[in-house]
Amino acid sequence: MTHRHLRAALAASLCLAACSRATSTASVSGTPKDQGLKDTFRSAFLVGVAIAPKQFEELDVANAALVKREFNTISPENVLKWVIVHPQPDRYDFAPADKYVAFGERNGMFIIGHTLVWHSQVPAWVFQDAQGQPLTRDALLARMKDHIQTVVGRYKGRIKGWDVVNEALNEDGTLRETQWMKIIGPDYIAKAFQFAHEADPAAELYYNDYNLDYAAKRDGAVRLVKSLLDQGIPVKAIGSQEHLKLTTPSAAAVDSSIKAFAALGVHVNMTELDIDLLPPATRNTGADVSLRAGPSPSLNPWAAGLPDSMQTKLARRYQDLFRVYMANKDAIDRVTFWGVSDGDSWLNGWPVPGRTSYPLLFDRQLGKKAAYEAVSEVAKEPRVVP
Ligand code: G3I
Repeated sequence: MTHRHLRAALAASLCLAACSRATSTASVSGTPKDQGLKDTFRSAFLVGVAIAPKQFEELDVANAALVKREFNTISPENVLKWVIVHPQPDRYDFAPADKYVAFGERNGMFIIGHTLVWHSQVPAWVFQDAQGQPLTRDALLARMKDHIQTVVGRYKGRIKGWDVVNEALNEDGTLRETQWMKIIGPDYIAKAFQFAHEADPAAELYYNDYNLDYAAKRDGAVRLVKSLLDQGIPVKAIGSQEHLKLTTPSAAAVDSSIKAFAALGVHVNMTELDIDLLPPATRNTGADVSLRAGPSPSLNPWAAGLPDSMQTKLARRYQDLFRVYMANKDAIDRVTFWGVSDGDSWLNGWPVPGRTSYPLLFDRQLGKKAAYEAVSEVAKEPRVVP
């Protein structure tokens, strides 16, 4: 059987699986050609992807078509970050974000906003007065409120869920000493949620972070979200970014975190899933965007292509993770990949610039990798609680 025939047979069997679950969209969306991950997992959770102008302006037609075929929720990789949407005190630039939201609406997708309060990608002026001196607590709260209410208010009823606060925790589970924290104090987090809720009471509000499958940080997130809930703050879900490595964290650790969050009574979103296969360039795990390391050939071993043995390992790793997600599907609202194809991934540039990374389900030609098939198989398995 040729590769193409194998793919056709698999597509047919996937269609059978998806169609036999008899969900409305699978049957109305038409031919098996239109089936994607969104259909495969329709009875479990939404499947999403982070997109950039290339996709939402349809500059790359094939890439945009893939997004429409495969995904039913989108996240903005960059265009709703403070530095882009609000570059100067009196200037908002909504042009890119408007196009992002319009793409989601045209295609009937669940549209996510990312992110309102973060320590990264926020201009220095945000924390300073006109003389360049640090703002007072009240002035920074007023600025945060204006930003959140302007941005959330613009897309009220259209952006359905917001990463309100992003990456507020250190690895040991304590609060990160960001400018927000230093100037406002720990209640900056509750205030951000309160402002977002006032701006769009129907929007889902999320706390989002990386490395939440490690015990100390996971426990910090549990403490943080519990304290928000105790104050009556409507946190709908914890977003676990899921920037993972091939063997760490373990699938069991991922399972534990999902269960720990669900026990709080909130939902869980896997928000930025990718699996970094490349040799570690720093000792740090996770996704701290400030990390940088110099290029070297040993750090970029597969510039000419990924060996089959590694494709297989990636497929198994994704399969293990999706087994955990399926086992916890009642707690999980969505699983979102951080980028469409390997060529689109931020991991080609972080922490070492110019590497060739293979963290996603689609290759550089937009073809389905073995990991895609492996993940799809999981939807057909009987449910096993790990
Ligand atoms: O838009 C400018 C462009 O004009 C300029 O020529 C170019 C030169 O470097 O930079 C472009 O901006 C870059 C931007 O991505 C858009 O491509 C920034 O330098 C670069 O820092 C930025 O990286 C993004 C990073 O967040 C920092 O915001 C990545 O694309 C994005 O994938 C990454 O996403 C984060 C999540 O928001 C939060 N969790 C971790 C995740 C991965 O770091």
